[in-house]
Amino acid sequence: MANWKGRDVITMREFDRKDIDEVHRRADAYYDVAKHKRQLDVLRGKVMASLFFEPSTRTQMSFDTAMERLGGQRIGFTDPQKSSVFKGETIADTMKMMEEYADVVVMRHPNEGAARIAAEASSVPVISGGDGTNQHPTQALLDTYTIRRAKKGIDGLTVLLLGDLRYGRTIKSLAMALSHYDVKLQLYSPPQLKLAPFVVDEVRQRIKVQELNSMDFAHADVIYATRVQKERFPDEEEARKYAYVIDAEKMREAKRDAILMHPLPRIKEIAAEVDADPRAAYFEQAFNGVPVRMALLALVLGK
Ligand code: NCD
Repeated sequence: MANWKGRDVITMREFDRKDIDEVHRRADAYYDVAKHKRQLDVLRGKVMASLFFEPSTRTQMSFDTAMERLGGQRIGFTDPQKSSVFKGETIADTMKMMEEYADVVVMRHPNEGAARIAAEASSVPVISGGDGTNQHPTQALLDTYTIRRAKKGIDGLTVLLLGDLRYGRTIKSLAMALSHYDVKLQLYSPPQLKLAPFVVDEVRQRIKVQELNSMDFAHADVIYATRVQKERFPDEEEARKYAYVIDAEKMREAKRDAILMHPLPRIKEIAAEVDADPRAAYFEQAFNGVPVRMALLALVLGK
């Protein structure tokens, strides 16, 4: 079993099946505490620094909630313009302070590789809440947790990843996480927004990956839709061309026991009418961020 204490969480590439299963088991142990909004004292006296250099709702607030439910405290900023980083302070210097103030750092940054730089500069564990178009490992842990709970396991499933597979970081992390299970991966995106070949090749070493020519829901047990990442495009006009919609009619093509996931925020990819469909799993998915992030915080802090 991996040694979790002090571990950085930067990329899914560093997590195998045993690691993922362990996070899920711990998340199960915390699930009811999160659901019923109770508080434990597992992390009493511990401080989490939350540094978000990019907008976030769910990731940041579920980390804050997770720390609160475990009895710990958080410090940090939500608006980088109000911190010295805006004056030009380097990530490395920021981290030198953070390791004195906090026991764990959660960071989101627009640049690929920023989380790694932070981790190398810091003696306390760094958990990435997303670095540019690269990775979003904690999202993959909660996504696989959501699949496991909803489908009573992960092995044997066909998972369809849809939308902006090129710039979406949740996709890269999720594909890597799923490759440790007996999963068949289906990919569908506009040709301009395909998943990077290095990710496809890496995942293909372990599992079957099929690229679809149309948005075909017929075989998927899990349909995972993503937003076109317009802020990553050189030109927003271009991003608008790739808009797509899943509505109630489209859901008729999906299996009766399929689940529909989305890391959120959805822009228009999923019509509001789909929310009433029992297969819509995205709000439960967002909730699952709390027990999964409780699990991660407790594990990296050696509890
Ligand atoms: C995602 C992200 O930030 O990558 N959001 C999230 O953390 N749930 C997905 C997105 O922004 O499209």
